[in-house]
Amino acid sequence: MSGVISRMVRKELSPEELLKIIFEYTAKIAGESSLNAVLVLMANMGREMILSDRCAVWLIDDVRKELYTTVAHGVKEIRVPYGTGFVGSSIVNGEPLIIKDAYNDPRHNADNDIRTGYHTKSVITVPFTNNDGEIIGAYQAINKMTDVDYFTTRDLELLSLAASYAGKSLESVMLHQEIIDTQREIISTMGEVGEIRSKETGNHVKRVAEYSYVLALGMGMDISEAELLRTVSPMHDIGKVAIPDAVLNKPGKLTEEEYDIIKSHTKIGHQLLRGSRRELLRTAAIVAEQHHEKWDGNGYPSGRKGEEIHIYGRITAVADVFDALSAERVYKPAWPIEKIENLFREERGRHFDPAVIDVFFQELPLLLEIRERLTDTAEH
Ligand SMILES: [Fe+2]
Ligand SMILES: [Fe+2]
Repeated sequence: MSGVISRMVRKELSPEELLKIIFEYTAKIAGESSLNAVLVLMANMGREMILSDRCAVWLIDDVRKELYTTVAHGVKEIRVPYGTGFVGSSIVNGEPLIIKDAYNDPRHNADNDIRTGYHTKSVITVPFTNNDGEIIGAYQAINKMTDVDYFTTRDLELLSLAASYAGKSLESVMLHQEIIDTQREIISTMGEVGEIRSKETGNHVKRVAEYSYVLALGMGMDISEAELLRTVSPMHDIGKVAIPDAVLNKPGKLTEEEYDIIKSHTKIGHQLLRGSRRELLRTAAIVAEQHHEKWDGNGYPSGRKGEEIHIYGRITAVADVFDALSAERVYKPAWPIEKIENLFREERGRHFDPAVIDVFFQELPLLLEIRERLTDTAEH
């Protein structure tokens, strides 16, 4: 339930309540290293401080000339062209905006309201700067929840305060994110090497990464851990670099010895990665070793059972098999989704962890959306 008509009327906060919110959130934000998590925390902090129905933190993407934000646990990224809407004009002019009724202002873009049935009325936007005084983004809050029904200069002060507290953490997290993105790119490329050798497409590893992320969040991991798994899951088949071509791409049936050689990609991947001091690569080692283990103990290389298999291995297994079945390959058409659903239902508690399968079914619409977005035909 949201929108102006159904809104709950709230009372302005006391100074004590405000302080409590600020203390709580600045501590949480300072301990976060994931950009998405910081954006979500900052937005929640802003919303609670000024009693708005919705709040988002927007950042500037200089390369794509866009503004972007994340909502809902950092799963969905929203982008708009630079300079559009209230938030865009606030960033371009470096001025805050307080709007009593969005529909009386030509800058309002009603597309989102029309699509979601939400009604935007009052709006406040506050740009914020980095340590060098450059504008790097803005707060935007929508619909004041008190009986006044619009935002005031007090809200402006509070939101500026939130921005100045969180802004510094935000900048360091953005720098940290640069490094993480670079690592992720390198890792994803390494993962592609393993997959290309077994005639998978580059998008296979990207899709497995995104599926793993959604499943990890669904399993209750926090954003940072889910992002860690998203980064490492593409490396599950890296051990295939050491498997001879004649075996890996042999048409027709494999002998038992040949199948054993293929299976060894799990151990090889583990050996390649386990010696690292980096958490990232050590985590990748777990996934490389355990992504073919099965819940009932009939997998390889070790025949681990149930929770003896690391949760990262159990999640990647579902993501990997889902993609292998649902994507089209040179040698096979894509399986229809009903057929995949039947198989996953059958294999729940056999091949796969029942809990991960439950999350799989719950998140299926989102997984299919990702498949659509990262479809192979779009790139090839
Ligand atoms: Fe594999
Ligand atoms: Fe794979």
